Amino acid sequence: MNKIRIKFASKLGLVAAAAGSAVGLGNIWRFPSQAADGGGALFIFLYIACILFFGIPLMMGEFIVGRSGRANASGSFQKLAPGTQWKWVGRLGIITAFLILGFYMVVCGWTMEYIMQSVSGQLMATDSFSEAFGNLLQNPTRQVVWMLLFTILTAFFILAGVKKGIEQSAKILMPVLFLILLVLGIRSITLPGSVEGLAFLFKPNIESVKSTIFLDAIGQAFFSLSIGMGCMTTYGSYFRDDSNLRKTAVQVSLLDTLVAVLAGIVIFPAAFALTQTPDTIVSSLVAGGPGLLFITIPELFHHMPFSSLWSALFFVLLGIAALTSTISLMEVVTTFLHEEFDMLRRNAVTLVAMGVAVLGVVSSMSPQFFNMLDYTTAKILLPLSGLFISLFIGWYLDKKITFAQLSNEGTLSVSVRFIKLYIFILRYVAPVAIVGIFIYGIFF
Ligand code: PHE
Repeated sequence: MNKIRIKFASKLGLVAAAAGSAVGLGNIWRFPSQAADGGGALFIFLYIACILFFGIPLMMGEFIVGRSGRANASGSFQKLAPGTQWKWVGRLGIITAFLILGFYMVVCGWTMEYIMQSVSGQLMATDSFSEAFGNLLQNPTRQVVWMLLFTILTAFFILAGVKKGIEQSAKILMPVLFLILLVLGIRSITLPGSVEGLAFLFKPNIESVKSTIFLDAIGQAFFSLSIGMGCMTTYGSYFRDDSNLRKTAVQVSLLDTLVAVLAGIVIFPAAFALTQTPDTIVSSLVAGGPGLLFITIPELFHHMPFSSLWSALFFVLLGIAALTSTISLMEVVTTFLHEEFDMLRRNAVTLVAMGVAVLGVVSSMSPQFFNMLDYTTAKILLPLSGLFISLFIGWYLDKKITFAQLSNEGTLSVSVRFIKLYIFILRYVAPVAIVGIFIYGIFF
């Protein structure tokens, strides 16, 4: 099948689109609650190590597969390894993307609710933010309505086209979100009593370590970088021949990590400063789980002038960051259906949106289902995909292709030592580490 594939127009466009996919609720909502659950500093340290040693190489790997295959996440593997079963690695990613959407959309819905409540002034009029969030969780109808709206919005943007929809929004709004986080971070660490929050973030406490901490950290790293669900492969397939894959992967990963750590600096000092008893804080942080962002951040705004305005601005930007992520997730599944089953893009998007809506309704009504989707995707499917992608590039793919992709057919200088190190990581280090992490996380 020969279809003309759209490419990203500008160099900034591709970084923006990949960063738009990576930066999302994973950084600002999921990262803090995982860090709280993982006991703080040590989790963060492991998370950053996972980004450096596995995240960046695997993101480059997905770009390599996507740009040399020039097809959807499954088709790209098929082109590079015809007649083999490697295409299932891509398909595993596509299924994972679909399942992630099934709970991610619900959190996007919460964000919508908070936008509305901030604009109406209702949010800042509440006495207890945890009660307000609890009320939302007990109201499936509200959650479902917002979730459906967000799903339709995402589908709409996908139909508007890769170039226009994604590049434009991400380029302008990401820096604004970053600035707001900075302001919030400063407010948070200048609250009296914030020091303990900073210590929780940066001072390792070995006693609180759980055996699943490695799995949690690698799962969060992959989730946050949008790795292992065909996303970066699909975006890689839209890259231009002169796009620098190495640089893009490094830039996107650093940016993504920076946003996550910044979100931690906003949330933890505030959480510690605004809750009176330090003893209960850690347990309530853990119990706060998915709610941490939706409870602590409004509380922080409450301590600032123009609270409703700040809060509205923050949640709108968070919504947009989430949208660029849901667009990328839905794009993965849509492009697959469009190219492999010859469906019209419009029909493919509709079908995916309907499937996501069904999962989203169940996740809104059942926290167990929500948690199961979150757990299975982040802690099982993503690391598994990561393992297979590293095996594919480390062992199967011709090294000449890897070299040609990383050096843009020799036009960029890439040292042989770098390529050797790169292959070594994907051939031995990443697979051994991921298998080890699985065994340790599951059996100990
Ligand atoms: N990386 C996104 C985030 O951090 C979520 C996401 C996961 C997006 C998988 C695309 C693919 O929120």
